[in-house]
Amino acid sequence: MQIQPLRHWLVAASLTLPFFAYAGDAVPTARAEPTPLVIGHRGASGYVPEHTLAAYALAVLQGADYIEPDLVMTRDGQLVARHDNELGLTTDVDARAEFAERKRTQTVDGISLTGWFSEDFTLAELKSLHAIERIPAIRPGNARLDGAFAVPTLQEIIDLVKTLERSERRRIGLYIETKHPTHFQQLGLALEGPLLRTLTRNGYQDQRDPVYIQSFEVDNLRQMAQRSRLRLVQLFGSGQPYDQQAQGSTLSYAQMATAEGLRRIARYAAGVGPEKSYVIPRDAAGNLGQPTRFVADAHAAGLKVHPYTFRAENAFLPTSLRSSERPEQRGDSAAEMRAYLDAGIDGLFTDQPDIAVRLRQQR
Ligand code: G3P
Ligand code: CA
Repeated sequence: MQIQPLRHWLVAASLTLPFFAYAGDAVPTARAEPTPLVIGHRGASGYVPEHTLAAYALAVLQGADYIEPDLVMTRDGQLVARHDNELGLTTDVDARAEFAERKRTQTVDGISLTGWFSEDFTLAELKSLHAIERIPAIRPGNARLDGAFAVPTLQEIIDLVKTLERSERRRIGLYIETKHPTHFQQLGLALEGPLLRTLTRNGYQDQRDPVYIQSFEVDNLRQMAQRSRLRLVQLFGSGQPYDQQAQGSTLSYAQMATAEGLRRIARYAAGVGPEKSYVIPRDAAGNLGQPTRFVADAHAAGLKVHPYTFRAENAFLPTSLRSSERPEQRGDSAAEMRAYLDAGIDGLFTDQPDIAVRLRQQR
């Protein structure tokens, strides 16, 4: 597809769909979740700058079952979709002279960062920024859409989903991640209350509703489990969850990934979102090794398993599935997905939902 028509289509889709409704359409009814569940990671972020309404809309139009907003807070307590509270990575803030003095250095989750932070901007200020591509060298096509889209609020994302549910005639889920929960709690800008209230206000409050809430931290999930019946997902990274580190606890992701650790997680969560290597590690040559016990142990505990992140470009693929030495070219992402499906996963996060949907249809 030529870039200009694509750009015009995406702009139109992202700007007009939230206000478009099918008069007389029945509200789609709930149905069993497909397997594997296809989660559009940051939207269809392999095609459009991440966490924009256009990226989410494209993920849905490609057949994703869920879209995946990462949420951070603004200074005035509004939930917006960004992977990081540091805005310089995915917006044009560094080109905006009026915000130059907001640049600062602070510690976030134990790491010193320099940049512009969402908690220093009101929603109105943040809305004046434009999204840009995070990895332009890998995704030059996306970079040509720099400046075309705004940073969406959670409510705008929900409005988009509800509109697309009518036009697509199916339920579309929200797979929401709370980013930097302890950091925002320490600022008096806790994400959890506003998130649960926004979801309740929009009719999402039950485990049958198409919502998962995910976190790399532990305690905010445990606390939300006391306040909500929505399904929760424990993410797994490396080292320790930051809230555990901040409390002086020794609890690590490695301990949480044992059979006993997974049984403990099942007391507050419906699923787990491991980094892919928990399920199939790579060997020294960068190829897929043998599956671990992670999926079997998680299933024995009653947990769904949704690993992250499947990306089609060579830069992210196992060595044997790369198509060339060029990191931006695509390799055999479907083969990687097949190996994980054979290992028993229940769903996956992917930047290219069309590949996973096609694979599901073939299987
Ligand atoms: O939430 C699943 C996956 O998105 C976690 O990684 O860093 O892309 O948010 P990240
Ligand atoms: Ca995420």
